[in-house]
Amino acid sequence: MSFPDGFLWGAATAAHQVEGNNVNSDFWVLENTAGTIFAEPSGDACDHYRLYRQDVALLAELGLTSYRFSVEWARVEPEPGRYSRAALAHYRDVLDACHEHGLTPMVTLHHFTSPRWLMRLGGWSAPGTPERFAAYCRTVMAELGPLIPYVCTINEANIGPVVRQIAGDLLELAPVGLGDAPAGGLGAWLSAAAHALDTTPDRVNPFLFAYDQAANEVIMQAHTAARAEIREVSPDTRVGLTLALQDYHPEPGGQERARQMWCETFTDFLPALDGDDFLGVQSYSRMRVGADGLLPAPDGAEVTQMGYEFFPGSLENVIRGAAAAGLPMIVTENGIATTDDTRRTEYVRQALEGVRRCLADGIDVGGYYYWSALDNFEWMLGYAPTFGIIAVDRATQTRTVKDSARYLGALARKNGETL
Ligand code: BGC
Repeated sequence: MSFPDGFLWGAATAAHQVEGNNVNSDFWVLENTAGTIFAEPSGDACDHYRLYRQDVALLAELGLTSYRFSVEWARVEPEPGRYSRAALAHYRDVLDACHEHGLTPMVTLHHFTSPRWLMRLGGWSAPGTPERFAAYCRTVMAELGPLIPYVCTINEANIGPVVRQIAGDLLELAPVGLGDAPAGGLGAWLSAAAHALDTTPDRVNPFLFAYDQAANEVIMQAHTAARAEIREVSPDTRVGLTLALQDYHPEPGGQERARQMWCETFTDFLPALDGDDFLGVQSYSRMRVGADGLLPAPDGAEVTQMGYEFFPGSLENVIRGAAAAGLPMIVTENGIATTDDTRRTEYVRQALEGVRRCLADGIDVGGYYYWSALDNFEWMLGYAPTFGIIAVDRATQTRTVKDSARYLGALARKNGETL
């Protein structure tokens, strides 16, 4: 048993991480406010808003069959209820470029960033957010739906609990979103950001920090409300969301904690997935769990630029776990940040072997998207971690294809037979 016909071989990006100058988004403000915890601002990023045709052509030339990218809410709806025809025309052209080059587009409607005005209205903890998000999704899909075979409403709907597990101690200091952050450096930054966003600190609830139960509810409602709108205006589009799934490895005494962590980041989200067409699965590494929580990588383990373990086997493990959702799955992100591209190729090879074993066991996996197509803006860490299969010289915006890109492209051309 190998890869099924029509298996999607792709690479992924997200608008804010590649487009550049996403000035109307909440993250732009957070990055550019004094005292920021971001290593550097996103700036021009990979100038993909201008160079998308070149980038799409390159992915197709490599042999890939699909491209996952995100539409930026802050561009499409710059003020509440005011839609930009120009931004919609831009994304229509990105979709046209994909189709012209034979790439199946997969679109994400929300990938971490939101319009700055959403923070005036309370961000991802506010009860009105699901309706606002659903209205934006309806507009995009009414306009562009016929060009979009697959849509992910929300990228990593569960990122809140994941962040909480990883950075728990820090977040304990801010029990209700960013707004109640402590005094001092972090607090000063957040107050300044609230000021720049023309709101009060308690309303600054960007998606990445929306980690309490109330925010989970808002996010799940946003997904189900968006799905209902999409079904109405674009019935042929397959709809899902993506989850950041962690491969928890309990160490002695960590069994119960590991089970609890899986519940917080997977089982708790199952009600929202009921009625979806697919589940986007995203995995990067494993996490060792002791009785009190997460443990560092074992001594001597190979670690990536992100500080976590080189562990491509995590993908197979999370696919097997997520099969419990009872939905067809698509690997919407899997990748590694490294300067040694031979390790990237090896990581992809091993991860895909895991996917193949899952397929052989009858698990429905419809595609694999490497994260990321381009070396891009890695959020708080800036441009230091390099995930891309294509390098970007940000001074000249020159693209250089890495061997790992050729490897993935060659696999795609033979539908995985050469793995
Ligand atoms: C996110 C990406 C991010 C990647 C690597 C995923 O959680 O969807 O935006 O760049 O991980 O850290």
